[in-house]
Amino acid sequence: MTLIELIEDAERQLMAAGVSFGHGTNNAFDEAAWLALWCMQLPLDSLQKHENRPIAGELINKFATLLRARIDSRKPAAYLTQEAWLQGVPFYVDERVIVPRSFIAELLADGSLDEWLSDQTVNVLDLCTGNGSLAVLAAMAYPDVRVQGADLSKAALEVAKINVAKHGLQARIELMESDGLQACHGIAGQPYDLILCNPPYVNTHSMASLPPEYLAEPDLALAGGADGMDFIRPLLAQAAGKMSDNAVLVLEIGNERDYFEQAFPSLPAVWLATSAGQDQVLLLTKQGLDLLEH
Ligand SMILES: C[S@@+](CC[C@H](N)C(=O)[O-])C[C@H]1O[C@@H](n2cnc3c(N)ncnc32)[C@H](O)[C@@H]1O
Repeated sequence: MTLIELIEDAERQLMAAGVSFGHGTNNAFDEAAWLALWCMQLPLDSLQKHENRPIAGELINKFATLLRARIDSRKPAAYLTQEAWLQGVPFYVDERVIVPRSFIAELLADGSLDEWLSDQTVNVLDLCTGNGSLAVLAAMAYPDVRVQGADLSKAALEVAKINVAKHGLQARIELMESDGLQACHGIAGQPYDLILCNPPYVNTHSMASLPPEYLAEPDLALAGGADGMDFIRPLLAQAAGKMSDNAVLVLEIGNERDYFEQAFPSLPAVWLATSAGQDQVLLLTKQGLDLLEH
C-alpha cells in the first residue's frame, strides 16, 4: 500500500465516522494526510514528494491505531500528536489548552498590522495567551518588542512556558497569571503599545451545539456567556487605561460580530481581513476605546 492509498482510505473512514474538523484542517483528506505524515515522521508539507512511497505493515498498523483513536475519542488530532502548527511554526499542545488556530496569527505573519505600529511599538500584551502561540509569533514578527503573555489558567501557562522555551524566547516573553487585565500593569512600568487578544467568545447557544472535538477543549477557553461578550465587556472598559497614546488592541471574536455590534454600537472598530473573512478580527485604537469610557 502506498502513502496516498493509506491516506485516501483514512479519508473515507473519517468521513464515514462523521468526525468534525476545524483544529488545523477543515476536511477529511487534509486531516488524514496530517495524521499519516506525522505517524511516518515525515514533514507535513512533503506529501507530494512521498505519496507513492510504499508503507510497511508495521507502520500501517501504527497509523490504524492512531486513526482509530481519532475516530473513537473524537479528540482533535493535535491532542493525539501533541503538536499544532500555526503559520508554519510548531507548538506543543495538550488538553490543558485549546488547539491554537487564531486568525491573529495570519495578521502577525503577513504584516497586516504594521500600518498601525511604529518604532515606538515596544510593549506587547498577548491576553488570553493559552499555549503562548500568539506571544511567540509576535516576538518572531517584531524582533524589537518585549511581550507579556497572560492567562487565567495556570495549566495553560505551563503549556505556554514549554512553547516559549521551545522557541528560545524566554528573554523576551514573560508569562503571567491574570484574570482579564487585572494583573496586567504594563512592562517595566510602560503601558502596552499593542494588545492582542483571542478570548473566550462563544455564545451560550453555540456552546450547546459544539461537536465533541470542541468539547474536548477547556471550557474556560471557549465559553463567553449569553452573547459571547462576558470577557470582552470588562476588557474594553479597562483597556485604554493600560495603553500608550498610539496603541491598538487587536481582538478576535469568531462568529460573534452581530453580538459585538449590539454590545458596542458606538465603537469605531476596524474590521481586519483574514482567510476567514472580514468579520472575525477587529482593531480598536486607544482613542476609539476612550469613546467608550467617557
Ligand atoms: C480562545 S483561547 C485562546 C488561546 C490562545 N491565545 C490561542 O489563540 O490559541 C482563550 C484563552 O483565554 C483564557 N481565559 C479565559 N478566561 C480568562 C480570564 N478571565 N482572564 C484571562 N484569561 C482567560 C483561557 O484559559 C484560554 O487560554
